[in-house]
Amino acid sequence: MIRLIYFGHSAFQVESAGHTLLIDPFITGNPHTKTTIETLRPDFILLTHGHADHYGDTEALAAASGATVICNYELGMYARARGVAKVHQMSIGGGFDFPFGFAKLLPAFHGSSMPDEHGMPIYLGQPAGILLQLGDLTLYHLGDTGLFGDLALIGALHPVDVAMVPVGGNFTMGPECAYKAVQLLQPKVAIPIHYNTMPEISPGAARLDAWITAVTELGVRAEVMAPDSVLTF
Ligand code: NI
Ligand code: MN
Repeated sequence: MIRLIYFGHSAFQVESAGHTLLIDPFITGNPHTKTTIETLRPDFILLTHGHADHYGDTEALAAASGATVICNYELGMYARARGVAKVHQMSIGGGFDFPFGFAKLLPAFHGSSMPDEHGMPIYLGQPAGILLQLGDLTLYHLGDTGLFGDLALIGALHPVDVAMVPVGGNFTMGPECAYKAVQLLQPKVAIPIHYNTMPEISPGAARLDAWITAVTELGVRAEVMAPDSVLTF
């Protein structure tokens, strides 16, 4: 059984076969969640890209739990330089068998950088989506991305059970392109992410409802997870 906890924005905990994974652990300062990092004990932290609303509490969580951080090469260099002890670096298109299952980085169309002391960007590698195969279940967290046609290829190569799809717009695709993404990918379940955290990524209830209706008409189960809620598969 897989247990999925959503903290709002793009942050999830995935519990599988005795392992606890965090994806994009933006907990402190995340207005959606009441969870605090003291309650979290991940053994792996997976990062889609190097932006503060995804890197989040990675350093504090890794220090407290000894978790291994899994991410792209440059973001891994950054995490190591900032004191993260255990880092597993990957690149787009590469997969690896971890103790918890298989993880693969997939393309995302976005940025990945943090400001240096002058406010200039430190390059943090290519942004990614993360595909996870945990037993019989395939999850795909799309990260922050615009729409791209290779979602059809990805869905054909890796039939997806649960997709976490950004819908907020401005920094990622909005609901209309996120519908197209679901149509291309054909997951069994689609969970909207990366919305309503700030005004720029709040598409409004009408457009979100239209996404749910349209996705449902494709035969895909739209699961709108409330922050701090749990789904099991
Ligand atoms: Ni981002
Ligand atoms: Mn983001």
